Amino acid sequence: MMKKIILLLILISISSIFAQPDEYDEKISELLDKMTLDEKIGQLVQIVGVERFSEQRIKEGKVGSILIGTRGADEVNRIQRIAVEESRLGIPLIFANDVIHGYRTIFPVPLAEASSWNPELIQLASEIAAFEAASEGTHWTYAPMVDICRDPRWGRIVEGSGEDPFLGSIIAAARVKGFQGSNLKNKNTVAACAKHYVAYGSAEGGRDYNSVDISERTLREIYLPPFYSAVKSGTASIMSSFNDLNGIPASANYFTLTEILREEWKWNGVVISDYNSIGELVNHRFAADKKEAALKGLTAGVDIDMAGDTIDGDVYSPHLKNLVEEGLIDEQTINNSAKNVLRLKYKLGLFDNPYVDKEFFDQNQLSKNYKDSIALKLAEESIVLLKNEKNILPLDKGIKSIALIGPFVTDSVNIMGSWSAAGRPAEVITILDGIKNFVTDRIKINYSFGCNFDDDDTSGFSEAESAALQSDVVIIFVGEPRSMSGEAASRTSLDLPGVQLDLIKRIHQTGKPLVVVLMNGRPLTINWIYENVSSVIEAWYLGSQTGKAIANTLFGKNNPSGKLTITFPRSAGQIPIYYYQKSTGRPATDAKYTSKYLDSPNTPLFPFGYGKSYTTFSYGNIKISKALISINDSVEVSIDITNTGKFAGDEVVQLYIQDETASITLPVKLLKGFKKIKLNLGEKKEISFKITPDMLSFLDIEMKKVVEPGKFKVMIGGNSEDVISISFEVTE
Ligand code: BGC
Repeated sequence: MMKKIILLLILISISSIFAQPDEYDEKISELLDKMTLDEKIGQLVQIVGVERFSEQRIKEGKVGSILIGTRGADEVNRIQRIAVEESRLGIPLIFANDVIHGYRTIFPVPLAEASSWNPELIQLASEIAAFEAASEGTHWTYAPMVDICRDPRWGRIVEGSGEDPFLGSIIAAARVKGFQGSNLKNKNTVAACAKHYVAYGSAEGGRDYNSVDISERTLREIYLPPFYSAVKSGTASIMSSFNDLNGIPASANYFTLTEILREEWKWNGVVISDYNSIGELVNHRFAADKKEAALKGLTAGVDIDMAGDTIDGDVYSPHLKNLVEEGLIDEQTINNSAKNVLRLKYKLGLFDNPYVDKEFFDQNQLSKNYKDSIALKLAEESIVLLKNEKNILPLDKGIKSIALIGPFVTDSVNIMGSWSAAGRPAEVITILDGIKNFVTDRIKINYSFGCNFDDDDTSGFSEAESAALQSDVVIIFVGEPRSMSGEAASRTSLDLPGVQLDLIKRIHQTGKPLVVVLMNGRPLTINWIYENVSSVIEAWYLGSQTGKAIANTLFGKNNPSGKLTITFPRSAGQIPIYYYQKSTGRPATDAKYTSKYLDSPNTPLFPFGYGKSYTTFSYGNIKISKALISINDSVEVSIDITNTGKFAGDEVVQLYIQDETASITLPVKLLKGFKKIKLNLGEKKEISFKITPDMLSFLDIEMKKVVEPGKFKVMIGGNSEDVISISFEVTE
């Protein structure tokens, strides 16, 4: 044990060699010299909320930051004043909060936003969220959540960008830039926190908090890239996750927290644990008690212990001092972590401006119109049209009556999705209101609740049926209540909960033109609906502007352009299913001994990148600038896309690449680029992509980035399956 600790101490002092000097170093060192050990440890302690007893501890300099929630500027200023005016050194506190997809203005849930494939818009939404949150005292948001997830049973899939590391990296960067702006000192910005580091989205069986056992290759190729992108975009912090990773809990994992973050990536931000994840090292049976947990968490590289001091047992706060005094932790290790926290306080400008400047926010208000317009645009672009066979959509403006059925129609809470911060249900546009406002009194609305989300009460079916019978068109809004996605919301079945499918079947029997709108935080298994209902929309949880976005879409003011960023399986039994699987030695054919199921096709219901439009796009004339290039060369590929349908529309043109043969087995294809384009009726555009050596590279057997000579296939299309391809060759 002792030997191991000495080794760890040596490693830690070596790692400090890699710390990046910056403009604050001198100030930080001066301050640190004045601090007692207790005060330094105080910087590493984050408490949740402020109870009476905490105020005393703030005065004693024993708290560095607070997870405050949405208590508002006055309360934040009140508590801050205690730290600044009543503690010995007057070091300001950082106030943290979960601002995940909006603060007061609620944007679509992250998985929905990702379906927009519009990072610029996502960045604007994050900017608005930062402004609103900062105006009420938040300095630090626990977002973006950048966990790649290939398992829709995991409820937290809703908080991320889906299954793809390339798209996930682009969105991670957009969110970090949106939250942090160009300078964290600007009052309208908040520090970002890329979470949950790392591989939390790979929990076995999709069960939240469960163990993760993946290869280093999978870690580096799939789960690390969005974190790296966040780091490159300047994320101020990273949160270590709850899960055990390859035998070492992620919140005590020296390899990921120090070797990768500090040494490889040379990053000097703050690492914070997840909520009591250091204390939980005891439950992992990785530490005998809270004291050993504190030792292991800190020495692995977790600077701040979130909530460890608020939950049942104290972790960093009481134990770090003893650990230093007993020689088990070098004070330098405490200093390094305290420096990281102080650096963030300097970066945020808190030493100069510790208080919320209400005047600034009053004078620089973002107009409600502006905020709503971004929330609406993002909501519209997040909507994915899954099917529109008889072209029921967009709804004919000549219809006289419409039935709106289902538990979402008048709901204003679930449609905000999980993590709705200071979002107010009264400010959310419900589906009923959105549609009423759109149609005014031109169209009669027959509303019926139908059934609850998740019980077996069918007593509302007959009323729903008569609403349907009295109407020209029926729209049913079904899905999951928001409590079914997010944290601790794993499911073994992806079916619609309760009797919602029975309701659809009953209404389907009326023979009325039918549209099903799904609202949920994960892919659902919707085979029956897909086979039997002619129009199906995936609307996720769209936030404040839900009703307006839905109305605009149903009536064609918005032509859907969203594309799935996560594969929709036919059944939960197909999980994990994602587009970048590898080739097997026995590709599926009709022959018996090939890689397939007895009871299901291998293919998903909807592939990654899938999404329809009210118009149609045709792809053709793919061209490549050179058929042969050398290893450091780039090549240009282009394709013509034509709007062949009846509406103007946006299309997400996706570029995938396959390295045909390599020294390790590689995925059948990987997304390497995309462009979202606008095409008017009949318009044709030539779209081109530059393919750089970086896009052809992969990690070889030694985890080194290489490009290997050989053939590459380039695929372009409107989803990951429906592509046109062309090949070229790379020589030495
Ligand atoms: C979640 C984090 C969140 C934290 C603070 C945890 O339970 O896993 O994502 O940031 O709580 O609210």
